[in-house]
Amino acid sequence: MAIATKTLVAIVILSLLGEGFGAAEIECHHNTSDIKISQKPTGVQIKGSPEYEVTFYNACLCTQTDVVLSCPGFTSVEDIGSNLTPRGDGTCLLTDGLNPLHGFTTIKVKYASASPCTFTPLSSQVYCS
Ligand SMILES: *[C@@H]1O[C@H](CO)[C@@H](O)[C@H](O)[C@H]1NC(C)=O
Repeated sequence: MAIATKTLVAIVILSLLGEGFGAAEIECHHNTSDIKISQKPTGVQIKGSPEYEVTFYNACLCTQTDVVLSCPGFTSVEDIGSNLTPRGDGTCLLTDGLNPLHGFTTIKVKYASASPCTFTPLSSQVYCS
């Protein structure tokens, strides 16, 4: 009887865990669709150009690296730091490509330009473990 009760408790706990993971998985596409991109002007002018802050949010548990973005015409009159690497062909790498965008974390980049750039994810590596 005691064993049967323990078994029952174990089954209940396992199924609760299972549902928890299931709920987390629902939000995951395991591709660049999990990267949510938003952008807003900061209200600051740098050398006469408006500054923008773009936020990359990983809405899934899975880590992404080698995130290639379309960023046509991207330029900045301010130093953008190392969170974004423009490659001169209309594409940019998030970080240097190697540093990961971990699950449920954000990477922010500020840049200043006459007009805002539209960032669209093209490809990435997704690591679920
Ligand atoms: C990501 O995967 C989902 C299915 O899981 C698919 O509907 C969607 O089109 C994919 N997005 C990209 C950008 O490949």
